[in-house]
Amino acid sequence: MLLRPPMTAPTYHLTSYGCQMNKLDSELVESRLQQRGYRPAPQEGAADVVLLNTCSVRQHAEDRVWSKLGKLRQRKRTEPGLVVGVLGCMAQEHKRYLLARMPHVDLVVGPSAFGDIDDQVEVARKKNLELAATREPAKTKHQVAGAGVVVVDQGVSGDRIVRDVRVRPHRSQAFVSVMRGCNMPCTYCIVPTTRGDEVSRTIAEITDEAQRLCDDGVTEITLLGQTVNAYGRDLTGQDATLARLLRELHAIPALRRLAFITSHPNFLSADLIDAMAELPKVARYLHLPAQSGSNTVLKAMRRGYTVERYLARVEQLLAKAPDIELHSDFIVGYPGETDDDFAQTVALVRRVGFAQSYVFKYSPRPGTVAAEQLSDDVPEAVKETRNQELLAVQGELSVAKNRALVGQIVEVLVEGDSKVDGRMSGRTAHHRLVHFTSTDAELIGRYVPVRVTQALAHSVVGDLLADSEGQEGAHDRAEVLHP
Ligand code: SAH
Ligand code: SF4
Ligand code: F3S
Repeated sequence: MLLRPPMTAPTYHLTSYGCQMNKLDSELVESRLQQRGYRPAPQEGAADVVLLNTCSVRQHAEDRVWSKLGKLRQRKRTEPGLVVGVLGCMAQEHKRYLLARMPHVDLVVGPSAFGDIDDQVEVARKKNLELAATREPAKTKHQVAGAGVVVVDQGVSGDRIVRDVRVRPHRSQAFVSVMRGCNMPCTYCIVPTTRGDEVSRTIAEITDEAQRLCDDGVTEITLLGQTVNAYGRDLTGQDATLARLLRELHAIPALRRLAFITSHPNFLSADLIDAMAELPKVARYLHLPAQSGSNTVLKAMRRGYTVERYLARVEQLLAKAPDIELHSDFIVGYPGETDDDFAQTVALVRRVGFAQSYVFKYSPRPGTVAAEQLSDDVPEAVKETRNQELLAVQGELSVAKNRALVGQIVEVLVEGDSKVDGRMSGRTAHHRLVHFTSTDAELIGRYVPVRVTQALAHSVVGDLLADSEGQEGAHDRAEVLHP
């Protein structure tokens, strides 16, 4: 039995399986655990506490976690003191069922209860150590039992965590949550169930956190919310809108880039468009998921807009801020989606000319309106074909946009090593991924000029220039510094 001496600082390993909000939650959980004296383990196999921060948005995301939990069950057979925790959306979605299926799990904590995660981990750890000391070692994997601590539905919100701004993966980039939950009625989506009602943080709380991050070296902030542009609608009488928030944050001198994800088409207000047009630090892309190009499907999804209305909003935006690029999400194979509906989605993608789209095959989520009331009637093979076709169309558009940059100089915030040896990568103000030849770790977190030489579907490749070569106009809002 591998029980550690009591004086050793316990170690944890945390893996995120979900969206950016899920990743930020993981940072907050880490911040809290470190404040409690826990230390990150060099690798998962060496950790006393293994935490999985999970996602329920599609079946595939859940399957990865179920399979990972199966593997951890093996490990717990020989290490009964090990704490296995399931955090996040699957915890909230499955609650006690998770323990019925995976009895070796020690801790189940939903996203609304991360505020005292350190206490919960301690409770599970103590309970687990007691059990491990008294119990016979499990002879089969079915006998492996965990502490079974469950905190779901409500609890101490993660927003109560006074974030230790030093605990973050990137020195110059940070996510900041502006609102939790989602109040939208999209029929296919599990997020409102797992995340609960919309709750916005105040402008004062957000600006304080942003200022502390910038004081610690952050220059790029991405604001997070499931419908980020609906920010503030629950804060009555405070005049809290995303447009106002952007203006307040824009005033932080050390901040150079300010992005926000994800926006809902219904809340793209004139105020927000003005803010995007006027504020040079605001990122030059807008993630505005359309989901479908067919009014029949949009209505069935209860998205609350038509294709015409979506296009009108986009036109209003581009009239004032023509340098903004649009990004979208699409679901293919929603119940009842016909070839003609799908053809309209393809047409919308071409018409808007998105710079980037995520395409998902519809995955019925138990308990959602779509899963309960409609049959998942588009065959998997058809979903797959539509998925590939839409990706191919989007790929063409993305390459064309990237090709237009060849020969231009772009400003890149360097993020780190690229997958290809000898190369580093970073992003432009349009969120475009740029690779260039260098191994100079000193560049990480700096804004450097790169001359684009090659266009790929999901990125561009270029040559790093000496700072002076790109300096002129280096603070321009535009991605392109000069030809
Ligand atoms: N709040 C954001 C994103 C939520 S989830 C928004 O509204 O845009 C991210 C994406 O997953 C969604 O935009 C949608 O395209 C996709 N998605 C959500 N539920 C899904 C499901 N049941 N099947 C397939 N894709 C889904
Ligand atoms: Fe899900 Fe719709 Fe809310 Fe996005 S807006 S999180 S798709 S319910
Ligand atoms: Fe997944 Fe939960 Fe995010 S379901 S997409 S981790 S909000």
